[in-house]
Amino acid sequence: MKLFRYIFALILLSFIYGCDKNLKTKNSEKVEFELSLIELDSNRIKNDILKLASFGNTELDGNERIAYSDYNVEALAWLQAELEALNLKVSIDFAGNLIAVRDGINNNLKPIGFGSHIDCVPSGGHYDGQIGVLAGLEIFRALNENNIKTNHPLELIVFSNEEGGVFGSRALAGVITDETMDVMTASGLTNFQGVNKLGGNSDRIFEVAREYPAFHSFIELHIEQGAVLEEANLDIGVVQGIVGLRWWDVEITGFTNHAGTTPMDRRNDAMLAASEFTLAVNEIVNSIEGTHVGTVGRIQAYPGVPNVIAGKVILSLELRDLSNEKLDILFNEINKRSSQISKKYGTPFEFRRLSATGEPALTSIAVQDIIEKVSDKLNLTSVRMPSGAGHDAQEMALIAPTGMIFIPSKNGISHSAAEYSTISQVQNGYLTLLHSILAIDKLDSLD
Ligand code: HGY
Ligand code: MN
Ligand code: MN
Repeated sequence: MKLFRYIFALILLSFIYGCDKNLKTKNSEKVEFELSLIELDSNRIKNDILKLASFGNTELDGNERIAYSDYNVEALAWLQAELEALNLKVSIDFAGNLIAVRDGINNNLKPIGFGSHIDCVPSGGHYDGQIGVLAGLEIFRALNENNIKTNHPLELIVFSNEEGGVFGSRALAGVITDETMDVMTASGLTNFQGVNKLGGNSDRIFEVAREYPAFHSFIELHIEQGAVLEEANLDIGVVQGIVGLRWWDVEITGFTNHAGTTPMDRRNDAMLAASEFTLAVNEIVNSIEGTHVGTVGRIQAYPGVPNVIAGKVILSLELRDLSNEKLDILFNEINKRSSQISKKYGTPFEFRRLSATGEPALTSIAVQDIIEKVSDKLNLTSVRMPSGAGHDAQEMALIAPTGMIFIPSKNGISHSAAEYSTISQVQNGYLTLLHSILAIDKLDSLD
């Protein structure tokens, strides 16, 4: 049933956007372009993936290169050296974003931006974010080897702490706050501490904010992290919109007591309330029409030992959808249900919103059109689709005409050691990004 709703949403979205099939620019003239023949080196592509994976590969299952870890610092140093060797101007901004700039013929023009992130979730995969960054490295090499000079300067951005709340891109978009700096990350460091570890400067972080249109355009290449492309046997996803994502810490207060001597009818058991709450989130989300999702992904009982009734539980609540109104409706229903659970067990609930998430963002139709046209010319099949995952591109959409390119994920798996895309799928993504950049470079504006 949910798959049907998802496909229906896809059809609806493609109808809304698909009507504007022609490639339109500012004066809505049609833009034709030929693709210059540029070879990418698939061996180098494979070696880059293996090299970057080595910063975080552990005997544990999956990637441990979480934001602000030593692996993150070492991987950034390797990338910086690789990019500097290509005569690029490389720096780390106050937010810990690594930025590599390649001059254009006219450096007064706004840059064409692209990039993604190299931090991962704990025990994560080696493709989420990494592909969009390594594409930039390979594209710079290919442009140098083919002596191609673009009109616009090019800017590759490796965003800091994407998994802990699209932090680096939100800093660039000027939407972080003091509380964002205090958000704790999986590394055990707050953003304030972590940024300094990456070579940024927490005291000056608000200075990195840029105004719209800070870029001529921005495109993020990313794995789909879902199964739509693979199941439809398609090569490229042209992303129309990126879901909004909201996080809360939910604190449930019970009464700590002896698990052996406290009768069952005299308990205020925070763990019992948390269990009923978790089931309620799932039931409420499934009871409302649409493609939204809701998850309880983290739970901590205190004191957290077998022979003590939990006096406190802190769990995470995450809600996602393309519409803010839908997110409001979902939260209100969940909040109402928590009051009933609280009464039933005598366990008050407190919801603390975390400043670590992104607003729903639509991408630029002009950029979508270019990506679709480039895929056609590369003889790659494509479909316009929404993104169920959050991305740096949703923050960049606040300061630039933005697009996203998806490549298939094996079995739709992500945030897991089983995350995988073939080298040929990766190479298709790189070529689509490269030629979209070259096509966009010919346009003086995308608005
Ligand atoms: O959670 C997400 O959607 C993204 O992978 N950070
Ligand atoms: Mn990602
Ligand atoms: Mn991710």
